Amino acid sequence: MELREGLERPGMRWIVASAWPYINTVPHLGTLVQVLSSDVFARFLRKVGEEVILVSGSDEHGTPIEIEAIRKGKSPRELTDEMHEYVSELFRSFGISFDNYTRTESEVHKEFVREFYLKVYENGHIFEREIDQLYCLRDEMFLPDRFVIGRCPYCGYERAYGDQCERCGRLLNPTDLIEPKCSICGSTPEMRRTRHWFFDLPKFSSELMEYIRNNENLPDNARANSLSMIEEGLRPRSLTRDNKWGIPAPFPGSEGKTIYVWMEAVLGYLSAVKEYFIKRGESSKFDEFWRDSETRSVYFIGKDNIPFHTIILPALLMSSGEGYVLPFNVASTEFLLYEGEKFSKSLRRGIWMDEALKLLPPDYWRFYLMYTRPEQRDSSFSWDDFESKVNDELNDIIGNLVHRVLSFIDSRFGGSVPMTQLDEESSSFLEEVKRLGRSIEDNLAKMKLREALRGLIEMARIGNRFFNNREPWRDFETNRDRTCSTVLASYQLLKIIAYYMHIYLPFSAERLWNMLGFDGEPDRGTAFSTDVSSVRSVEPLFRKIRKEELIERLKQIRERGEVLSAREL
Ligand code: MF3
Ligand code: ZN
Repeated sequence: MELREGLERPGMRWIVASAWPYINTVPHLGTLVQVLSSDVFARFLRKVGEEVILVSGSDEHGTPIEIEAIRKGKSPRELTDEMHEYVSELFRSFGISFDNYTRTESEVHKEFVREFYLKVYENGHIFEREIDQLYCLRDEMFLPDRFVIGRCPYCGYERAYGDQCERCGRLLNPTDLIEPKCSICGSTPEMRRTRHWFFDLPKFSSELMEYIRNNENLPDNARANSLSMIEEGLRPRSLTRDNKWGIPAPFPGSEGKTIYVWMEAVLGYLSAVKEYFIKRGESSKFDEFWRDSETRSVYFIGKDNIPFHTIILPALLMSSGEGYVLPFNVASTEFLLYEGEKFSKSLRRGIWMDEALKLLPPDYWRFYLMYTRPEQRDSSFSWDDFESKVNDELNDIIGNLVHRVLSFIDSRFGGSVPMTQLDEESSSFLEEVKRLGRSIEDNLAKMKLREALRGLIEMARIGNRFFNNREPWRDFETNRDRTCSTVLASYQLLKIIAYYMHIYLPFSAERLWNMLGFDGEPDRGTAFSTDVSSVRSVEPLFRKIRKEELIERLKQIRERGEVLSAREL
């Protein structure tokens, strides 16, 4: 994509988003990867002067939450109030730079959804139909979506849900399932007639096809997957549910029905931007973002969410006739596994966000999750790898460089950075650093967040090599100019490292920036200028970790129920 062109025209508008987490449970590290990716990308765009809004929110409606509330003997809203509060705080602690982290129970969202669907209805893209639906006699209710489990008619997976098969990713209707069972009580449901409202998705097939074909930003997995779904033939999607928990359907005669959770949650990307500007007293800016064809919206999601973002969301935007901009990119990733297997709450396999924070500061997790981000294929959190990457790269390469340079300035120059004319080797070294910086930016612009982070480590690696080769301690007495040049170039390098590090490891980068003698956040102007300040303090930026200790501590956290996720089972 031609972001560089965008960079030369600073101030382009971006809406950056991550999938809204279901709030029935504390998110685990696999979910955090998406949110973190959106944060990293947004931080990068802000750094290079783009106009960015980073949004997400708690996905509160839908069957898993209803089930969880029933299980806990609470009302769904009581449950989501508590969880929204808790999870919002966790994201803050992880340094996610949301402009608005909201929720689907927000008044702005509910109102937005109502008006949106009335418009789509007026436009003639919604129709009403009597259908057969699965009804559980024991629980006395219709069984939508995840309330019913059965065999996938496409791939044969035994535990497919009524709305989607988690193995092959296909969108399903509950009646597509072979040998369906009620997921609450396990009994076999019967068919009953009921009325529902449908979104006329097939109408948009050719427009969608064209949109996906022409959108070269979409990753290969998202493109291929979506095109084949369209080629197989889209079907109308049912919009309403008989659940009580949800947003009331606004259509004439639809009293008592709610909107299907996915069909309203995706509109959260719009309502969250709207709410953000309402709160700032700049309501009209919503249009400047969402109704401008130049605005770029980017969605960081897992591969299981692809069709909702490449098919359902664009079709809904088209159907509204409101001129909303279509997704610029759907940055879908593969799955993060835990020691080679799927995260599982019931098996306690994985690490949950609140546990992670009890174990180590956020930047350690941010580092490793972006280092191992599942971009091309599934990747795995493994304790061995976590330990070695933190110790050998984060600590020994980046942390070590910072420590050596700053201690040297502290002990030999009393903390003041020597000003001097850089010699040839030092300035060509800095040129190389800046070249590497540009490649980091190119990778970030292409959303290759994992590559870009490796570029940052590489930068520290060549910094260590430079410092070693120049041996500034040797010529301190005999050739002070040479020492000064080494030290000054290394100090300038640390400023640039702090600048890029701030995108990934905001807490550590601000500490480094402060040690280097600056206040606030590393900014481009200062980082790339020849400005120097005085070294304020020299402290280790990171420390080595021992996996045995961490695993032991995690066990203790769970046994003692120290965090909510540990008490949830
Ligand atoms: N809650 C969904 C999930 O975890 C994602 C919803 S993304 C949305 O799979 F924003 F579109 F709602
Ligand atoms: Zn399937």
